[in-house]
Amino acid sequence: RSFGPGRATAVAHANIALIKYWGKADETLVLPRTSSLSLTLDGLATTTTVTFTGARSDSLSLDGEEQSGEALRRVSRFLDIVRGLAGIEQHAQVDSRNDGPTAAGLASSASGFAALALAASAAAGLELSSRELSRLARRGSGSACRSIFGGLVVWRAGHDDLSSFAEPLDCPIPLAVLVAQVNAGRKAISSREAMRRTVASSPLYEAWVQRSAVDLEDALSALRAGDLGAAGTIFEGNALGMHATMISARPAIVYWEPDTVRVLDAVHRARDAGLPVWATMDAGPNVKVVTSAELATEAAAWLSTRLENIPVSVNCCGPAARLISEDE
Ligand code: PMV
Repeated sequence: RSFGPGRATAVAHANIALIKYWGKADETLVLPRTSSLSLTLDGLATTTTVTFTGARSDSLSLDGEEQSGEALRRVSRFLDIVRGLAGIEQHAQVDSRNDGPTAAGLASSASGFAALALAASAAAGLELSSRELSRLARRGSGSACRSIFGGLVVWRAGHDDLSSFAEPLDCPIPLAVLVAQVNAGRKAISSREAMRRTVASSPLYEAWVQRSAVDLEDALSALRAGDLGAAGTIFEGNALGMHATMISARPAIVYWEPDTVRVLDAVHRARDAGLPVWATMDAGPNVKVVTSAELATEAAAWLSTRLENIPVSVNCCGPAARLISEDE
């Protein structure tokens, strides 16, 4: 059977932030200091099946490997929220598969917790609205609240659990995101820890927070005006500004690798050559490149030929999270 009662499978796609979420106002509720804007991708999906069973504890399998320790505890804490909402006590078996690498700064936690929120709530018999699902996914990983929706998505920071959720927006310019994979390994410092340290110790952080609010409104106006150049400049500045807050934290958090700088340099040269490309980066060494859907293949080819040994993939706008039948 496809789903419920007791079992459901969901698919959700990664999203890449164009205006970043970096830093929490509330750690437990996962309320962000800033609003953010993202694009849900058509690749990099997570497929998750949740089965509530009579087992004595929760279990988690990730890409076929049984997990213990922090990964399992994090999923279990999230399932506690779902159990609380549904008024049930059963433990669950969670089976999750990622299309892309896990914890490499390629938004696996966003697709992961969006798929888990949808599968677990459906398996628990809850019928949540997309807004309620977005709020729930947020508790697992902030950026996951945006992967509940497809396409261009804004997460308004809000001020409490009820007011902090993501919403889809019309995208006036068809966008694409290239991923230049510098290193697919697991990052050494989690985004949770990196955010904490940045907020606590970076002298640049408050300036970035203030600028971010302006960046979001300016970027939305630029997109509405069809001005990708203006929007792209804001996206790149916002992401590099976020990294400046990390680099200025004590101790510093430097996710960059030598190849990161090579890619950033290639993106600048591509722009000088007339291609509409702007770099963005998350909590890892990989570089994503925001571009127009129309010129994405050309831009990827331009970068690929100049970046030996760094795979460049093209990702277009992707769909909202959805329930599927298991044989799909
Ligand atoms: O959802 P988290 O806690 O993994 O935070 C992700 C934060 C960034 O990817 C760096 C930026 C963003 O807005 O996605």
